[in-house]
Amino acid sequence: MNVAISFDVGVSSFPILVRKMERSKVKREGIHYTPPGLASFLADATVRHLPSSGDRIEVLDPSCGSGALLYAFAQATAPKLRKHLVLVGYEKDADAIETTRTTLAGLDVAEVVLEVRDFLELDGVDSFGSGRQLGLFSEHRNESSRRYDAVIANPPYVRTQVLGAKQAQALAERFRLTGRVDLYHAFTKAMAHVLRPGGVLGLLTSNRFLTVRSGEAVRRFLETEFDLQAVFDLGDTRLFSAAVLPVIVVGKRRDRLNSARHICTFVRVYECRTNESHVAFQSPSVLEALRTRKMVGVVQTDAGRFRIERGVLQPSDGASIWSLSTPEYDEWLQTVESRKAFVFDDISRIRVGIKTTADEVFVRSDWTELPDEHQPEAALLHPLITHHKAGRWIATPADENLLVLYPHTTRNHKRVPIELNDYPRAKAYFIAHEARLRRRHYVLESGRRWYEIWVPHQPSDWRKPKIAFPDIAEEPRFFLDQSGAIVQGDCYWITLKDNCDPDRLFLMLAIANSSFITKYYDIAFHNKLYAGRRRFMTQYVKRFPIPQPGSPIAGRIIQHVKGIIKHGPSSKSEQTVNGLVWEAFGLSEEIAR
Ligand SMILES: C[S@@+](CC[C@H](N)C(=O)[O-])C[C@H]1O[C@@H](n2cnc3c(N)ncnc32)[C@H](O)[C@@H]1O
Repeated sequence: MNVAISFDVGVSSFPILVRKMERSKVKREGIHYTPPGLASFLADATVRHLPSSGDRIEVLDPSCGSGALLYAFAQATAPKLRKHLVLVGYEKDADAIETTRTTLAGLDVAEVVLEVRDFLELDGVDSFGSGRQLGLFSEHRNESSRRYDAVIANPPYVRTQVLGAKQAQALAERFRLTGRVDLYHAFTKAMAHVLRPGGVLGLLTSNRFLTVRSGEAVRRFLETEFDLQAVFDLGDTRLFSAAVLPVIVVGKRRDRLNSARHICTFVRVYECRTNESHVAFQSPSVLEALRTRKMVGVVQTDAGRFRIERGVLQPSDGASIWSLSTPEYDEWLQTVESRKAFVFDDISRIRVGIKTTADEVFVRSDWTELPDEHQPEAALLHPLITHHKAGRWIATPADENLLVLYPHTTRNHKRVPIELNDYPRAKAYFIAHEARLRRRHYVLESGRRWYEIWVPHQPSDWRKPKIAFPDIAEEPRFFLDQSGAIVQGDCYWITLKDNCDPDRLFLMLAIANSSFITKYYDIAFHNKLYAGRRRFMTQYVKRFPIPQPGSPIAGRIIQHVKGIIKHGPSSKSEQTVNGLVWEAFGLSEEIAR
C-alpha cells in the first residue's frame, strides 16, 4: 500500500511515498529514509564544499530510496549551478525509484538518471585500491567522466547479525573490510571509489564508529581517503527515526598527490539532562540552531533542551576514537595528564562478565524447587552479580537466590570443564536440558563440551576482591564485591594485577564513581546512547586516570572509601570523596553536566 505524504522542507514541498513495508525487509535492506529537514541540512553541508565545476556537475546517491537527498541537494544548490546538475540515483527497490522519479520531476536540472540496481554489484565498484582497471558505469560514461563531483548518501545500515555470516564474509572479501562488517562500510568504500579527487562526500550514518574500537577501520578509511571538512554528531536528538544515533560526515576526496589535512569542524549535539544548565539561546529546532548560528551551549527547542558543542576533530589516523577538541577541553585534559601517575589498565585487569548463551538453563532463582535428583551440587552453584545489583560503592540487594550453575573448575592453574560423572545431580539436570544446550552449535564447533558456558571465567579470579559495574549507566555505578560472586555478561569487573597494593582498588573505586570521571568520559570518549546513558566499556575504563597513589590526598581518598564500604554511602561521604578526587587531579569540582 502506498500513501502520499507532503513534507514542507521550508523551500518547497515534495511528495514522499511512504509504503507499508514488512519490518523484516526494512531491517534487511536498511530502509530508513532521511526526513526532509535532515536531508536539507546534509545537502547544505555538502554543497558548501562542492568543487567549482564545468558544465556537468554529477551527483550520486547510491541508495536513493525515495529521492530525499538528491532533491535536497538540488534545492541547496544556487539556481545558476542547479542547471548543470546531473542527478544520479541507484536503488534496489523499484517502487522507491518511481517515487524518486516523481520527487525529482519538476527540478530545473540538466539530467536525472535513475536505475533500479544494486550499487555494490556495479562493475568495478569493489576494486578500490587494487589498481585494477575500472569498469564502473562504463555503459554510459567514458573513462574520464566516471568520477562524481559529489556523493550524498544515507547508505543502508545493516549489521553482521542481520546480513548473516555468509554475506558479511563475502562483502568483507570483496571490499577488503576488517572487523565486524556492516553494509554501510562497503558503501563507504564504494562511494569513495566513484568520487573524483576533490569531489565531496556528504554521508549520513550511525555515529557508532566514532567512539568504538571496532570503528577503527572506518575512521582510518575516512581520514586517509578524505580531507574531512565537518563532522556533526547528532547524538540523541531524535532527528532520525532509525534506532541508530546519526552522524554527518563531510569530506573532500583526496588527490593522491595532495595529502594535506585541513581543520575539520566537529559539532556535537546531545540532549541536556540537567535542569541547572544555563539556557544560552532559543531555537525552534536543533537543525535550525545549527544552521543559523554558530553558537554553543544549551539551546531550548520545541523538542527539548540540547547542548551544542563545537570544536575541531582531533586527527587520529583512525587509531584512536574521534574526539572533539576545544581549547577549554584540551587545557582541562592537560591538567589531568600532568597529575596522572598511571591508568586503570596499568594496574588492573578489566573483563566483561560471563556469557552462558543459555541463561534459562544456567541462571535460576528456583534451584531449591527442582526435584532433588535434578538439584545440582552446591559446589557448582554460585551467586551472580547482574546489573540489577549494581549500586554505587556496594551492591544493592536484589534476588539473593539468583545462582549460576558453573560447570568449570581449575586444574593445574587452568580452567577446565567439570567431569559430569563427578556431579551426578548436575549431570541429571544438564541431561534434562541437553537438547537446548546442544542447539548452541558454536560451542561444539569450537571443540568444547556441550554443557560448557560460552564465555566462562577463571574461577580463581572471581574470588579476589573486585570492582564490578554495569555496561550501560547514566551515572557511574562501580561497586566493590568481596563475596566471590561471578559477574554476569551485562556487567564488567576489575581485579588488581598480582602484587599490587590492595588499597589501590579503593582509590580506583573513588575515581570511577566521581563526577570528575563523568566529565573525563564525556570529553575523552563520549559514547552515549539515548537518555544520557553512557557505555562503560573496557576500552574506556582501561584509560581512566589514577593520581599518584602514594600521595597524602590519595591516602585520604582510600580511607574515606573504606569508611563508605564499611558504613554504607551517605551523601556527605560521597561529596567528600568526590571533592578529593577533583583535588587530586588539580581541578576544582564542577557540577555534572
Ligand atoms: C537508509 S535508506 C536511505 C534512502 C535515501 N537515500 C534517503 O536518505 O532517504 C537506504 C536505501 O538503500 C537501499 N538499498 C539497500 N541495499 C542497496 C544496494 N545494495 N544498492 C542500492 N540500494 C540499496 C534500500 O532499499 C533503502 O532505500
